[in-house]
Amino acid sequence: MHVETEGLVGESDIIKAVRHLIAQVAPTDANVLILGESGAGKERVAQNIHKLSKRKDKPFVPLNCGAIPAELLESELFGHEKGAFTGAIASRPGRFELAEGGTLFLDEIGDMPLPMQIKLLRVLQERTFERVGSNKTQVAHVRIIAATHQHLEDRIKEGKFREDLYYRLNVFPIHMPALRERAEDLPLMIDEWLAQLRAVGEPVIHLTESALDCLKSYAWPGNVRELHNIIQRLSVLFPNQLVDVPDLGSPITDEPAKAYVEHVNADPFALPEAGVNLREIVSDLETRYIEAALQRADGVVARAADLLGLRRTTLVEKMKKLGLARDVA
Ligand SMILES: Nc1ncnc2c1ncn2[C@@H]1O[C@H](COP(=O)(O)OP(=O)(O)O)[C@@H](O)[C@H]1O
Ligand SMILES: [Mg+2]
Repeated sequence: MHVETEGLVGESDIIKAVRHLIAQVAPTDANVLILGESGAGKERVAQNIHKLSKRKDKPFVPLNCGAIPAELLESELFGHEKGAFTGAIASRPGRFELAEGGTLFLDEIGDMPLPMQIKLLRVLQERTFERVGSNKTQVAHVRIIAATHQHLEDRIKEGKFREDLYYRLNVFPIHMPALRERAEDLPLMIDEWLAQLRAVGEPVIHLTESALDCLKSYAWPGNVRELHNIIQRLSVLFPNQLVDVPDLGSPITDEPAKAYVEHVNADPFALPEAGVNLREIVSDLETRYIEAALQRADGVVARAADLLGLRRTTLVEKMKKLGLARDVA
């Protein structure tokens, strides 16, 4: 069976199996639980299920349960009435209302606080909810797709996740494989992104055979997201150039990126013939350093800010601007 999926590039058996599951579950109203490492493409799977469902002309509403403070989550999900709590200056619909008739994507469901899990379970069982501060019951015609990188069985054992909610959500599980499990798909994905860059007139890289082999054998802890970032970064660093193994740099090659160092030493600020996209280079640089600092600081923003010589608030602002905020607790 050929399944028309968007942005889920790959011809490996493992990704074909995922596409097959998507096609099977999409037309139903079953809850779906998407499991897999961060950056593996879980949100892409959710979007594809929605697009292939009869709800496709209704909204697809994502909510990252891990990124929203516990005390705001209830009002995010169910909305609130004016005056329901301090700061509720106007009434507001929640994601359940916004997703009416469509799909609600609950990302990082494993991070949802226990009290909210109980409330969510009630909605899944009864299909009704109330805005915070309201006693008007509303019916939710919403399909739920949840995702997490966590092992929910472990969370259940630790008492951090409700078993009954797990069974409600886990009606149709889809495991999104890590990129390293389907390395054969790398060339196709890279081609796809380079074609996209070319289509908008951006310069692209040309990878040597050995550079491609090197990419294929790397473990990709950040999965497709990491690969995508690296291809974009290389395209900025080596516009219209041949990229060989040493150019790939750390952490892909274990040795220091010789050619990159040479390239930088030659004249780091040499302006290429075709000019540069300064804004992109600067935000790419910022993204790189911020991601590295966050990783070294175990995600503690204040500590990462110290490593970057920034105030915490400045870093948070930058992260929001660069779209990095959702990955941090
Ligand atoms: N199969 C794929 N083909 C092309 N790009 C993909 C694919 N899967 C993921 N992406 C890219 O990887 C990024 C991360 O995907 P996402 O669905 O947000 O991962 P997750 O939700 O598992 O963290 C996307 O923004 C997109 O750039
Ligand atoms: Mg995600």
